[in-house]
Amino acid sequence: MKDLLRTADLSPTDVELLLQTAADFAAKPFLANTTLANRTVAIYMTKPSTRTRLASETAVAHLGGTPIFIRGDELQIGRGETIADTARVISGYASALLVRTFKQSDVDELGANATIPVINGLTDDDHPTQLLADWVTIREVFGKDIAGRKFTYVGDGNNMAHAWLTMGAILGAHVVVATPGGSYAPDSQAVSAAQSIAKKTGATLEILTDPEAAAKDASVLYTDVWMSMGDSESDRASKTKALAPFAVTPNLMKLTSSDSIFMHCLPAHRGEEVSADVIDGNSSVVWREAFHRRTTIQAILYHLVRGDLIGN
Ligand code: CP
Ligand code: NVA
Repeated sequence: MKDLLRTADLSPTDVELLLQTAADFAAKPFLANTTLANRTVAIYMTKPSTRTRLASETAVAHLGGTPIFIRGDELQIGRGETIADTARVISGYASALLVRTFKQSDVDELGANATIPVINGLTDDDHPTQLLADWVTIREVFGKDIAGRKFTYVGDGNNMAHAWLTMGAILGAHVVVATPGGSYAPDSQAVSAAQSIAKKTGATLEILTDPEAAAKDASVLYTDVWMSMGDSESDRASKTKALAPFAVTPNLMKLTSSDSIFMHCLPAHRGEEVSADVIDGNSSVVWREAFHRRTTIQAILYHLVRGDLIGN
């Protein structure tokens, strides 16, 4: 496996290895601090980022390398240079490329034309690096035995909903995604791709439109922003109205299991998708989850550069 272009690229074995290495990097950040010695990693983003950018730059530094951050408007791509030519050129300098952008097909094209590992740092369709951080955090709380546990995402059927379903499928989990349906439902192709993984791993996937049924007895209640980067402002009012019943409030949390946790990839909007009482309360693990963005991206870089991942 050369690239991490989408969550579904990872096999269960790869995920186990990455989660273990991330736990090692949490305990010992400088464990592999010569892996990228004298080397660079390019980080190219056409959308804003707090966590993914800082986690990636820190991960590269902890592996002994130098990150080169490039904003979307700084490359010649904006003046007509092709994605393929850009990928070939960056491959001559850097040891890996992490990309955050809109279209999944642009990340795929970079991967196809680069000779170095290309990592998806979020697209409109997927967010694979986030899901590894989420599952390291989940394992710290509940351990590895997830039998009988339910892992619920409520909100917009966006990139996070797709990634949540796919990673849950890879890990053989009971995963529930509840959205208002219609144009806010998760993409049907993403759902069927996750379902075919679930068939092999024994995972159970449920797509619902009832937030209360989704929250009932869940060990994890996860949500994300209602307006994602790139969403049209003209949809804000109707989207906010449709998603209002999916807000994670203390009442929704009351339906979950007695040992449940609240998760959010962040950034959060208190009073919209989550109440301040929930995200700032005792069940919230969002800061640990954000911390693990560094440990997991460090693990991804470490194993991709060494060529350790087998892929799907
Ligand atoms: N969760 C996440 O990807 O955060 P950023 O958008 O700040 O990178
Ligand atoms: N769905 C959000 C996730 C942010 C980390 C977005 O794409 O903006």
